[in-house]
Amino acid sequence: MKILITGVCGFIGSHLARKLVQNRKHVIGVDNLSYGFKENVADLENNDNFEFFNLDITSDEFVDKFKSQNFDIVIHLACVKSPRYGNRMESLTVNSLGTENVLEIAVNSKARFIYGSTGELYGKNQELPFTEESSFRLGKPEIRRWSTVISQMYSEHLCFAYNEKHELDFSIIRFFNIYGPGQRRDWMGGPQSIFIESALEGKPMEIHGDGVQTRDLTYIDDAIEGTMKILDTPYASGEIINIGNDTQISIVNLAYMIWRLSNNQSKPKLEFLAYSDLPHLYEDIRHRVCDTTKALCLLGFKAETSLESGLKSTIEWHRANKGRVFS
Ligand SMILES: NC(=O)c1ccc[n+]([C@@H]2O[C@H](COP(=O)([O-])OP(=O)(O)OC[C@H]3O[C@@H](n4cnc5c(N)ncnc54)[C@H](O)[C@@H]3O)[C@@H](O)[C@H]2O)c1
Repeated sequence: MKILITGVCGFIGSHLARKLVQNRKHVIGVDNLSYGFKENVADLENNDNFEFFNLDITSDEFVDKFKSQNFDIVIHLACVKSPRYGNRMESLTVNSLGTENVLEIAVNSKARFIYGSTGELYGKNQELPFTEESSFRLGKPEIRRWSTVISQMYSEHLCFAYNEKHELDFSIIRFFNIYGPGQRRDWMGGPQSIFIESALEGKPMEIHGDGVQTRDLTYIDDAIEGTMKILDTPYASGEIINIGNDTQISIVNLAYMIWRLSNNQSKPKLEFLAYSDLPHLYEDIRHRVCDTTKALCLLGFKAETSLESGLKSTIEWHRANKGRVFS
């Protein structure tokens, strides 16, 4: 089986590629290394079942390279996720034009298409938890974070449009706050990454807002298991499925837990930063809670890794890679 993965040097893409290669699938991975790292797939480099191409999915070169190749599955994870810390134009372009290009390749090879979307789409909806049927409530365009959300929503619509026009077989996965080894160690990796980096140095952990906002963190191994279930079954065809956890934790308690698991001897150090002091106009999502019922009923999938155990492995990875510069 031949599988194309875009965003293969990113966090989820690299773990998924490893799992698929272990299962003797042939993986063609594409990434332009804008936010991902070659180190994330270094262990696959000499494997005959893995090929890597440093290409930009918005480029003609990418389309020309793959438009007449045959894939069984195309998994689209290349994305510019966080204009809060990056470039809004890049996010809008990659997440729209890039997705169109990847869809063209999937259609040409009559492949099954899997789109890695996001629980961010539910936005500020206050009716919790978020089921796949929940509405989206987004903020105003002045706020940068919504540009990623809008462009990933556009990508979801494209999946349905390609299905209508070309009978594309697709599944959409809405991931919720995935964490684990291999994630970026800066703010782009999410609050747990930056808390771990600070806690390992005994430095204050920077909390945006009051810290009472909650998230449900999902360990990467669970996210990969859920994704594999989607790949392995026809039940997920044409479906949108949340992949997440249903145990909430506040950002402050997350910081406390990370401080303790990092074996610090002093009291936790927290530094609160008001949203108004952030460099860009910013709006937070107060509570993001994933309804996992559909994944359980349709796929028999439930995230089982406890937060404490997932964080321990993640902290160990950060400790082992402290100071190492990835490229
Ligand atoms: N990690 C999470 O917590 C999370 C949560 C919700 C949704 N998701 C979704 O899952 C998908 C993958 O997320 P991730 O955490 O692995 O992100 P990531 O940033 O770690 O990986 C994305 C990869 O895409 C690559 N990329 C960006 N622009 C590109 C381009 N023009 N051409 C080729 N490659 C390009 C980057 O270099 C990076 O390696 C994204 O769509 C994201 O929205 C992730």
